[in-house]
Amino acid sequence: MPQVSMTVNGKPASGEAEGRTLLSQFLRETLGLTGTHVGCDTSQCGACVVHVDGKAVKACTMFALEAEGADVATIEGQAAPDGTLNPIQQAFQDHHGLQCGFCTPGMVMSAAALLKENPKPSEAEIRDYLEGNLCRCTGYHNIVKAIMAASGQDVGALAAE
Ligand code: FES
Ligand code: FES
Repeated sequence: MPQVSMTVNGKPASGEAEGRTLLSQFLRETLGLTGTHVGCDTSQCGACVVHVDGKAVKACTMFALEAEGADVATIEGQAAPDGTLNPIQQAFQDHHGLQCGFCTPGMVMSAAALLKENPKPSEAEIRDYLEGNLCRCTGYHNIVKAIMAASGQDVGALAAE
């Protein structure tokens, strides 16, 4: 079987992958990084969003072999080594931006990509950007609120839910 090597969360990672092995499968099953969730495998739910070379990508839309040499970031690399949450994760916790948590890794990774592109997004811009991320608990309001708070904006005007 072919071998694939990449950097994952700043560390070298490699393993065997068939031509049909998805990046999501490789991360979860070969590297044991199960924080990248798989909700559909058909590019609809966004639970599998990771960053590949700095861009948000649905890891189920890419083959592992396509990530050869890439710099991949997953939810496991977002908190500090001592477990301190990054500001987006902290804002999700503070503003109740998760219920069952299944969509959360993808939401956090998408939010990180959004804030890199647009450090102070409006509510409408956040909702638009998250179009590809589904929350089956339908907790969108607090997710949007958390992302606004993470970007340093006042969320007092947003109604509680
Ligand atoms: S598992 Fe990749 S978009 Fe749903
Ligand atoms: S918190 Fe349950 S799917 Fe979003």
